[in-house]
Amino acid sequence: MQRLFVSLLGWACIGAASPVALPQGKAFDRFITIWLENQDYAKVAVDSSIADLKRQGILLTRYYAHTHPSQPNYLAAIAGDYFGLNHDDWVRLPENVATVVDLLEDKDLTWAGYFEDVPGPGYMGNASDGSTGTDGWDYVRKHNPFVTYDSVTNNGERLLNLESFDTFQRTFAAKKVPEFVFMTPNMMNDGHNTTLDFATKWSHKFLQPLLAEKAFDERTLIALTYDESETYSEPNHIVTLLLGNAIPPALKGTEDDTFYTHYSILSTLQANWGLHNLGRYDVGANVFKLVADKVGYTGNKDPENLPTVNNSVSYPGLLNDDPSRRLPVPVPNMKLVGAGGLGILPAIEAAWSGTQTRQTPYDGSGKVFDGDRNPPVYNTPAGTPS
Ligand SMILES: *[C@@H]1O[C@H](CO)[C@@H](O)[C@H](O)[C@H]1NC(C)=O
Ligand SMILES: *[C@@H]1O[C@H](CO)[C@@H](O)[C@H](O)[C@H]1NC(C)=O
Ligand SMILES: *[C@@H]1O[C@H](CO)[C@@H](O)[C@H](O)[C@H]1NC(C)=O
Repeated sequence: MQRLFVSLLGWACIGAASPVALPQGKAFDRFITIWLENQDYAKVAVDSSIADLKRQGILLTRYYAHTHPSQPNYLAAIAGDYFGLNHDDWVRLPENVATVVDLLEDKDLTWAGYFEDVPGPGYMGNASDGSTGTDGWDYVRKHNPFVTYDSVTNNGERLLNLESFDTFQRTFAAKKVPEFVFMTPNMMNDGHNTTLDFATKWSHKFLQPLLAEKAFDERTLIALTYDESETYSEPNHIVTLLLGNAIPPALKGTEDDTFYTHYSILSTLQANWGLHNLGRYDVGANVFKLVADKVGYTGNKDPENLPTVNNSVSYPGLLNDDPSRRLPVPVPNMKLVGAGGLGILPAIEAAWSGTQTRQTPYDGSGKVFDGDRNPPVYNTPAGTPS
């Protein structure tokens, strides 16, 4: 309905001044995140394609994934938890688990997921052969976080926002790229079945049109990231590179040494657009510095338990494959105020009504949890620590 209204309005404006303006963010008007696979920071940071891209962007030098293998990291980035997941098999989360989609739609922001070689919009299958002619999987469900959430798949309009890279290219050419975009290249281009160098070369080439001077009329921030590191015995340190015409000229070619995780994507969106929060680990996650500085967010800090964190092993939860480590989905903490300056999304509070006083692991502290020495600690919900 919203979409129809907007497009009718756009139609009415043709020939008049300009098309319908996007809602303005504080530091950017569009966010695109592109996900590559399984590489250690130390190797990627010295790669020549990345070094060349870095001249136009900001390298985040202390960005960490949550656990291994791939799938939990993808799930975490859009929902503020990975719910104990420690494998890549088919999983599903109930409808009362909200995602970034709920936060964005609440403010009438448009969004899409683009998955290279997905056989059709809203495809929910495990895997599909694609365009590479290798007779292997090119598209895989484990790299598409949206289809795991019933809150997305039970809504036909949302499901149809999960589209192919071909659709992205058409949308880009028409200057109609949505305000939040999540992109997963196929298993060759993301480096999963190829090499570090193959994936960074692909990224360099793919990004050139998006970084061209007139590529976007609106300030666009692009986060090229990895899902996880390659070496499980070492901390889960990955490269994330911020790019796009939302980067102020003075920050191009610089580094940012703030501690980040994939939850920082959620807190950064919240700070930029003044969004509500999910009441999970999104609250307390550090906000990308270029955005924090612009909006006056002062909550960034190192997690107090950082020295003991082992982000290579999943804590217990609903999706753990070990029955003795299975727990229900934790109740969101409805008392937290997030980086957008707002409380939990009212629709989430309504969906979880009656659970307000139940113990929850989410405390807004920014602490990082693991399945080793830092398991989540459940407490009576309290407000955001100052
Ligand atoms: C998808 O994979 C799961 C195991 O992870 C299996 O149980 C299920 O049957 C598969 N579905 C299809 C359609 O292949
Ligand atoms: C990618 O690797 C997986 C195993 O990890 C394999 O099953 C699949 O066929 C490979 N895909 C391609 C396109 O080579
Ligand atoms: C983290 O846990 C994994 C799996 O138990 C183990 O192999 C690794 O050595 C641990 N790393 C640290 C730094 O403790």
